[in-house]
Order: sequence, then C-alpha cells, then structure tokens
Amino acid sequence: MAHARQDDTLTAAPPPGFLDDLKAISERKRRTLMLAHEYMVPNRVETFVGLGLPLVIGRREGYRIWDLDGHELLDLHLNGGTYNLGHRHPDALAALNDALADWDIGNHHFPSEPRALLAEKLARLTPGDLHYTVFAAGGSEANDVAIKSARYATGRRKIVCLESGFHGSNGLSGAAGNDDNARYFHSDFPADFVKVPFNDLDAMQNALTPGDIAAVLIETIPATAGFCPPQDGYLEGVKSLCERFGTLYIADEVQTGLGRTGKLWAVENWGIEPDILVTGKGLSAGLYPIAAVVMTRAVGAWLKEKGWGYVSTFGGAEIGCLVASRVLDICSSESSLANARSISEYLGKQLTELQRRHPFLTGIRRTGLVMGLEFDDAMGGILMSTQLYKHGLWAMFAGFDFSVLQFKPGLLVDEPYCDLVIAKLEAALSDVENKRAAG
Ligand SMILES: Cc1ncc(COP(=O)(O)O)c(C=O)c1O
Repeated sequence: MAHARQDDTLTAAPPPGFLDDLKAISERKRRTLMLAHEYMVPNRVETFVGLGLPLVIGRREGYRIWDLDGHELLDLHLNGGTYNLGHRHPDALAALNDALADWDIGNHHFPSEPRALLAEKLARLTPGDLHYTVFAAGGSEANDVAIKSARYATGRRKIVCLESGFHGSNGLSGAAGNDDNARYFHSDFPADFVKVPFNDLDAMQNALTPGDIAAVLIETIPATAGFCPPQDGYLEGVKSLCERFGTLYIADEVQTGLGRTGKLWAVENWGIEPDILVTGKGLSAGLYPIAAVVMTRAVGAWLKEKGWGYVSTFGGAEIGCLVASRVLDICSSESSLANARSISEYLGKQLTELQRRHPFLTGIRRTGLVMGLEFDDAMGGILMSTQLYKHGLWAMFAGFDFSVLQFKPGLLVDEPYCDLVIAKLEAALSDVENKRAAG
C-alpha cells in the first residue's frame, strides 16, 4: 500500500526542474531521485545533481560501484573508509552470512560471546594500555561516549578540538566539529568546546594551560579538511601537553584507522598512545553497522561503578561484532598492511609524475592510503569530482575545503587498479586544464 501511495504522489507531481538536464535517464533512476528529493533530503539531491553528480549507486563489488543506469566507477571515496576492504568483501560477507545463521543483535544488557571476544581483540590490537570497549552503532555515537567518559574520568567539562575537525552529527560529537553546523541547529556549546587551528601547538598550549580541559578530541589526519598531515612533532606535542595538564587524548580514528596509513592505527605512526581510541566506518565492512570506543582502565573506571551508565540497543550488535572481528583480522594482517604501504609508494610516484605534467595539480597529501589532492582553484576539488565522475571514478571533494579532493584507495587494491585510477585522473586533469585554457 505504501508503495502505491508513493507512486500516485509521483505520478501526480510535475517533474521537478532539477532533473530536466539529465539526459537518457532510466525511469527507475528518475523515480529514485524524485522520491529522495520529495521524501528525504531535497537540498542534498539537488546539490549533487546540480554539480553533475547524479549518482544513484546500484551494483557494487570490490572497489567498483555502478550507477543504477550502469555507469561504472572506481570507488576512491569508500564512504570515508567504510569500504576499506572493498564492497562486499567475500570473507566479511561469509562472516555476515554465518552470523545470520545463528545470531541476531543480541540483548545489550547481558554479556555476549561475540561482543566479549571482539572487546578482547580490540584491547589486544590497540596501542598502549587501551583496555575497555564500549560499542556503538556509529562513529558519532562513539565520539559522544568518548567525550562523556573523558568528562567523568577528569571531573572536567571542556573539550578541545580542531576548527577543521569532524566527529559526527550527534549532540556532543556535533558540537565538537565544525561550528557552522552545530550553530545552525542551536546545538553548539561554545563554552564547553574550545576550537583551535590544526598544526598549531601554541594555540593548543594556550587552550590547555588553564588546566580545565577534560580531553583533546582529534582526528589523527583531519578527513573533512582534506587529509592535511600533521606537521613533524605536532601530535607528539599535543600528547605531551595533554600529559602536562592532566588532559586526556582522544584519537578519532574513524577514517584513519584499520590499516589505512600502513599501520593498524594512524596514531602508531607518531608513537601516540591515546587514552581513548574511537573506530567505526570500516569496522563494519560496510555490511553491518558498528563502532567502538576503546579506553584505558583509568578512563573506563565508570564501567566498574555504573553498569547502566551507557546503554545502546544496537551498539555492539552480535552480528556486527562477528563481522568486525573478521575485519580486524584482515586489516591487522601483515600482508594487508604491507599492501597499504607499497600501494601508497606506487601511487605516490605516479602522482608526482602527474603533478609534473599537470600544473592544475598543485599538491599531494599522502600518509599511506590516506590522501588528499590539492588543486589550483578554490573549487578545484569539486571540479575534479565532477570531471572524474565522467571518466568513471568517484572521489569526493573535502567538505571543509573545496579546493581539495579526498583520494582514498582501498586497503587491498592492486597496481593494475592504480594504473586505471591514474589514467582517469590524468584524463580529468587534462579536461579541466583545457577548459581553463579555453577561458
Ligand atoms: C573522523 C570521523 N569521525 C566520526 C564520524 C561520524 O561517524 P558516523 O557517520 O558513523 O556517525 C565521521 C563520519 O564521517 C568521521 O569522518
């Protein structure tokens, strides 16, 4: 019945003008775009269509996706690393199917075998003394738990975060990120969330000096800002300032963890042992939502006092735990990590070559497979997203810096795949440069 009603609405509605420019669009895709526009997020649908990115993802396999109308795209977006292992990775899919045979979400009040085993694995695989895990259904929720845990552990309220950080869209995680969005929803807490610029140790020191900061919440390589790497000594400096002022260090590894930098966790590249580590996205294999907050015994002391201090029906769903456990095995294997490192080098060389031939490509940010490309135009990232889409590659511009393209190859890609990526990138660069030359 619900379907019939939607169809009636659509038949009655005049086609919205935003689809007028789309040529040769199937009825199925047109209907999906119109339904999404009518019943979901009109502004987002209009924006993507307006940019020439009318993507409606249909088939997906490995590191490729196909638009509903068949347009094939190499996936260099991976939804922020959700598809780090590729879409529908066979082992993760097998873990999911096996799980479905015997398990369900479970009852979050009680001890559970898949949840307990995954928590033990996370304690083993995370750096330093990280010990307790609280599971969540997504990264935003996990960051909220991290902030609350830090507040209770220190008895302090304030959190320092980066002006260019993104930690999710919920209450606390939303307030910790970009100010515009939180303010828009009257959900900012300027007195509680102190924002400092990235790579500025003096600003960090000034913020921490009063001694009233519970935690620094920081993405190891800020994703939405376009993966600008930390300068030498920055993260180590932040950590030692934290120790000096009794402030906890929360590493948001939602995008940078799970092998993407060539180490299982990006913080390991700088020898940082955080007090709290947050992971999500790729932990799910893109198959079953799950995120996790891993904290030291000291930070997680509340777990010994207040068993119901945090409960989440879907956090740590047993099916998700079984998938995540397989994901961790794959991501932590030496062969996956070695692949990340060698592919990073391979792409790094080719990108440097491209940069020599194409002045529009002005900079390459690269930490393992965590990459951002800089262009000679304030809107260069958007221009390249659109042009690459035409050439069969989906990579998304950085949300806080439209001059940059997030460039995210998967953990298990091989050299022939990278050659295709580079060929498409070169074609898109030539197109943009020719258009600019033609004025
Ligand atoms: C670094 C980082 N942290 C947290 C989140 C929030 O994760 P989720 O969308 O699962 O709530 C994101 C999402 O993009 C992210 O990039």
